[in-house]
Amino acid sequence: MSKLLAIIGGTGLTSLETLEIVRREMVSTPYGEPSGPVTHGVLAGHPVVFLARHGYGHTIPPHQINYRANLWALKHIGVEHILAVAAVGGISARMGPGVLCVPDQIIDYTYGRHHTLFEGDLSHVTHIDFTWPYDEALRQALIEGGRSAGIPLIEDGTYAATQGPRLETAAEIRRLERDGCDIVGMTGMPEAALARELGLRYACCAVVANWGAGKGEGEITMEQIDQTLKAGMAQVRQLLRVVIPSV
Ligand code: HPA
Repeated sequence: MSKLLAIIGGTGLTSLETLEIVRREMVSTPYGEPSGPVTHGVLAGHPVVFLARHGYGHTIPPHQINYRANLWALKHIGVEHILAVAAVGGISARMGPGVLCVPDQIIDYTYGRHHTLFEGDLSHVTHIDFTWPYDEALRQALIEGGRSAGIPLIEDGTYAATQGPRLETAAEIRRLERDGCDIVGMTGMPEAALARELGLRYACCAVVANWGAGKGEGEITMEQIDQTLKAGMAQVRQLLRVVIPSV
């Protein structure tokens, strides 16, 4: 089994044009179907696999993603490192639309999701250490990549993982802010915890698509989100080209 790096693409990154595709592989897992086939390819001269978190047609909402199958499938084919790309809302003043952030903490507000592999027929109970939910070496690779490519990145931040698929109320965003959250998204958990359970090194590059509810002017529209993400994801593609050889 080869050691591989995987990119999990979120909203705005359901495909990677910069990836030279070699083949697609549908992996069966004990947890059911992953979001779609895993795409094997070459990026910046290195073997990489890509998985679209919401499916290639962007049809699976955040609360219905089979996170366990996705992560298990990646582990099964030999993945060791995961760079997760995620669209988020901005909460703190430094997280305006268009900003790229490499979070270092998470608070989990999701519920009713299959959030662990450590249940069922167990020989012993296991508790993973999750003090630092993201892999620091991989975070630093993203940060260094940003510096060398001249792409501005915010190097820390607390990601609030909400249930969705609706966006938050203004009061919920104020509560997340009081809790110390900087950005808000719907897919950060249980993805990060499952990666840790499987011993996969995992870091996230978040792209701020909009101000969190009540932080900006007027309604949050999908058009506005899509438009901001288009520019943000172009930067992410550029960043990945620099980061992948260094990982
Ligand atoms: N809230 C939650 N998830 C999101 C948002 C948001 O404002 N924007 C993009 N993903």
